[in-house]
This record gives sequence, structure tokens and C-alpha cells, in this order.
Amino acid sequence: MEMEKEISAIVSHAENALQAVDTADVAALPHRVEDLKSKFIGKNSEINNVYRLMKNVAPADRPVFGKLVNDAKKRIEDRILSFESACEELVLRFRLSAEQIDVTLPGKSAGKGALHPLTLARNLLTDYFISLGFEVADGPEIETDYYNFEALNTPADHPARDAQDTFYIDGSGGKYLLRSQTSATQIRTMENKKPPIKMIAPGRVYRADEVDATHSPVFHQLEGLVVDKGITMCDLKGILDALAKHLFGESVATRFRPSFFPFTEPSVEVDASCVKCGGKGCKACRGAGWIEVLGAGMVNRAVLRNCGIDPQKYSGFAFGVGIDRIANLLYGINDMRVLFENDVRFLRQFR
Ligand code: DAH
Repeated sequence: MEMEKEISAIVSHAENALQAVDTADVAALPHRVEDLKSKFIGKNSEINNVYRLMKNVAPADRPVFGKLVNDAKKRIEDRILSFESACEELVLRFRLSAEQIDVTLPGKSAGKGALHPLTLARNLLTDYFISLGFEVADGPEIETDYYNFEALNTPADHPARDAQDTFYIDGSGGKYLLRSQTSATQIRTMENKKPPIKMIAPGRVYRADEVDATHSPVFHQLEGLVVDKGITMCDLKGILDALAKHLFGESVATRFRPSFFPFTEPSVEVDASCVKCGGKGCKACRGAGWIEVLGAGMVNRAVLRNCGIDPQKYSGFAFGVGIDRIANLLYGINDMRVLFENDVRFLRQFR
């Protein structure tokens, strides 16, 4: 009888402990449940300790006693396990409401990017020439003196070298330099390909200039080269006039002024009628009505010969256009420094 009382006391002890749990404190529930399990159904639980008293029970009474303890233990286990699953449910509901995501709220915008004005201008130029069947060539930015000057008919003592204040690579004895013009790719192309040749080469070039509104030690050019049988100055004028109209509008006129480049003969500088005033003269064109856009000419016979192309059979024209200059004209930029500072407030305007 004593035993029976003790066992039912253990059961109500466990049941009271369950009752006493504060289920409102949801965050603490998992710990509370663990404590209850170890205290009331764990190895050293009160009910397990009762089994040890079996040896004091008369052998004849042991089956009855055993059943009593087993039933009590089962009852405690059932209570605690169903309490545990009720708690899990509570915790789950709590988390579902606390961690709710309102999928109808507006999202954070990742912000739309924009192409850099130089990229826009380059794409406009390259797309145009690709549409005319030109191939796009590439060349190294660290060039040799040979490709940048010598093969372009500009030997070491040539005065035209002074106009391009060149960065030489230290320790190369003047052999390596940062290319000062994309014209170097003309030579590489003609060395590797026999006519007919129609190529353009956009890229970065370098000159030791101080930074100001119209100069930068790094800028961009697009070189063009056409070599075939019977190419004449008419082809040059036709294509470059069409280019000016493509870039600035059908009403734009071009004029070709005699000029000098060592790698072309004859050489020209090409002006477009001022986009702003239409040729009347304004601030943008400094009253001239014309704006210089590029240099060009018929490929010098000496240059063709340097590349193993027979000038008796073939002729060609070439041109070099400043991409930065085109971007400035297209987008009304009057200080090229903004092209390199990458101020997002400036760049955003090109979205
Ligand atoms: N390389 C010249 C420069 O940087 C531009 C140029 C002029 C390129 C005439 C040409 C050309 O291909 O025919 O000033």
C-alpha cells in the first residue's frame, strides 16, 4: 500500500510539473520539455528509481508491483510525449507568425545599370563598320617601337614622333612602349592577312599628356584600314562622309583638308559641319562652323611594302578616329575628365 501511494505521488508530481509549465513563454518551451523528460522519464527519474525497490517486495507480490510501476511509467511517458508534441506545435505556430514574410511588399530595386558613354560611342562606331563588312581586330597595348612607329614609316629621327609624347617601358631601351595610336594594328593586320582587307581596331592608347579638359594620358581610338585592288580616295571620302552622317545626322556635311601623317600619302583631316549650329558658327565650333573629327589618308606605299604588300597591285586607305572625341560630340560633353572620373551621377544619365 505504501508503495502504491508512493507511485501515484510520483505520477501526480509529474502531472503537476507539466501543469506548471508557462506555455506562453514559447521561446523557452523546447528547454522546459527537455528538462521534464530527463526529470520524469530519464535514466534517473523518480519512476525508474522505484524499480530498485523491487528487491524489498515479497516475490509473490512482485508481478502486481511490476505492473503498477509499468503502468505508472507508461502514463507519465504518454503525458510528457503528448505535451512535447503540443509544445512543438506551439513553437511552430509561433515561428510561422513571427517570421512571416509579406510577399506583397514592394521589393528593393537593384538599380538599373547603364553603358558608359565611351562604350556607347565605340559600339555605335563598330556596329556601323561591321554592317559594312569590316572585321574587328585587336592588338596589344604594350607595343614595340617597330609596330607603333617604324613600320608606320616613322623612323627614330622622324619629327612626327614629337607630336606623340610616348610612354616607354622602363628598361626596354626604347624597344617597348604603350601604344600611342591604334595605327599599330594596321601593321599587325597586313602582316597576317593578304588583301582584300577591311578591318577596324578600337582600343586604348596612351600619351604623356597632362590631364585637362581636352587631354588625358589614356584615351581611345578606332583605326580603320581598307586594302584591295583599285582603292581610291573616292572610297575614303564616300565611307567617311557616310560615317559622319550616320553619327551626326543626314544633314551633316564633311570637308577634307590636306594634312600630314607619315603612314598616309596623301593625308587628310576630316571635319564635319557643326552639329550644334549647322555650320553657321557658334561657341561649340568656335565660330568656324566645322568640327574636326578624324585623320585619314591613302596608305603610304612604304607602309604597304613594309608589310609585304605590293603597292603596284594594291592600294588602300586608313583612318583613325578618337572615340572620346566622338562621345563628347554626341553627348554634349565639354570636359573629357568626366569620362574617367566615373561619378555615378554623370553615368546615370546614360540609362
Ligand atoms: N594615328 C593618328 C593619330 O593618332 C590618326 C590617324 C590618322 C590614323 C590618319 C590613320 C590615318 O589611320 O590614316 O593621330
